[in-house]
Amino acid sequence: MHVIVGVGGGIAAYKVCSVIRHFTEAGHDVRVMPTRSALNFVGAATFEALSGNPVTTEVFDDVDEVAHVALGRQADLVVIAPATADLMARAAAGRADDLLTASLLTARCPVMFVPAMHTEMWEHPATVANVATLRAHGSTVLTPASGRLTGADTGAGRLPEPTEIGLLGDLLLTRPDALPYDLSGVRVLISAGGTREALDPVRYLGNHSSGKQGYALARVAAQRGATVTLVSGAVSEPGAPAALDIVHVDSAVELSSEMNARAADSDVIIMAAAVADFRPVGVAGAKIKKGAEGPAPIALTTNPDILAGLVRSRTAAQIPSSTVIVGFAAETGDADGGVLDHGRAKLRRKGCDVLVVNAVGDGRAFGTADNSGWLLRADGTETGLPYGSKTLMASRILDEVAALVPDR
Ligand SMILES: Cc1cc2nc3c(=O)[nH]c(=O)nc-3n(C[C@H](O)[C@H](O)[C@H](O)COP(=O)(O)O)c2cc1C
Repeated sequence: MHVIVGVGGGIAAYKVCSVIRHFTEAGHDVRVMPTRSALNFVGAATFEALSGNPVTTEVFDDVDEVAHVALGRQADLVVIAPATADLMARAAAGRADDLLTASLLTARCPVMFVPAMHTEMWEHPATVANVATLRAHGSTVLTPASGRLTGADTGAGRLPEPTEIGLLGDLLLTRPDALPYDLSGVRVLISAGGTREALDPVRYLGNHSSGKQGYALARVAAQRGATVTLVSGAVSEPGAPAALDIVHVDSAVELSSEMNARAADSDVIIMAAAVADFRPVGVAGAKIKKGAEGPAPIALTTNPDILAGLVRSRTAAQIPSSTVIVGFAAETGDADGGVLDHGRAKLRRKGCDVLVVNAVGDGRAFGTADNSGWLLRADGTETGLPYGSKTLMASRILDEVAALVPDR
């Protein structure tokens, strides 16, 4: 596929080199279009070497090829990172005074702006209006991360991590309408990852959950405009997604208390964490020694059923009746039934609105980038979730959620 990577004149321009590499390694034909000021930060030679294609900023180069029209037309995706305040202002106004902005006017593919700037610039009414205009034109404008900016400043305006830009770009390549800005004002609480049940100060009982599906849900919900709190157990994800609050927990009991504390202030609760059913009865105060007589049996006790508890709280009106509750079931078939039979039984048992069922075992679902499954609804209807990235699966699950959230 043809991917245009536009680069604005911001200090984060160097980070886009990893984004270019992400798309070339996936086998796409990448054209890098820096603005004139972007070349003050990273040289054209770097972009040419990384993309394997010529780099120009001007509409008056390669005039015989009518590049200012042709490149935009043939693109399957345009990613602009960093999208500076100036570049978004020019794009929102429909200016075409360099090759990148001219190409934006001829592109009919998904366009994703990835802003990066100081907090004051991001929050200025002019920038806010330009972002709204670009979204109204059908472009995706990511919400930046908060954190360290240039110099000693911190605040909203940091470029999301290149891996996140790559994941969301891939999503738009497979599903062009996957990132509508339709969850603004919706408060979403998501749990992700696996719990760790301590045995002693150095050991725990854990599980193989990577957190990828829960993180993908949090990432996509945040970029669709939701106010997201991610309660994260142990994960093998490299970093926190942009534009959300993250709370770290270890055990099922901690996860339970963090979820319950926030449930009443959430419009949507998604339980994607792999919560241990059992925990050791006691935690040894000192490391358990090998001993001559071999290992002692570990006595276990049952953990709280967080999903069922949240549904009970809703029934008891401790959380609003309009709260949408989504559960996950990682199932293997056994002598009592297949994956879907177990999923249907779990949905009835838990009483949530939607249950996402994954088949696990034999290397499926845990830790992989791709996934498939079924979406079971309380009314008995079911939809297959075809094989694809966990980000794609997240976008489909959130479509379901968006339809269930009451009008706001
Ligand atoms: C060192 C330095 C860093 C800058 N970083 C940013 C930035 O992160 N975001 C931004 O919007 N503008 C930034 N600017 C200002 C832009 O470079 C300037 O507005 C320029 O006109 C942007 O042009 P463009 O349309 O090519 O992006 C920076 C300027 C300098 C000198």
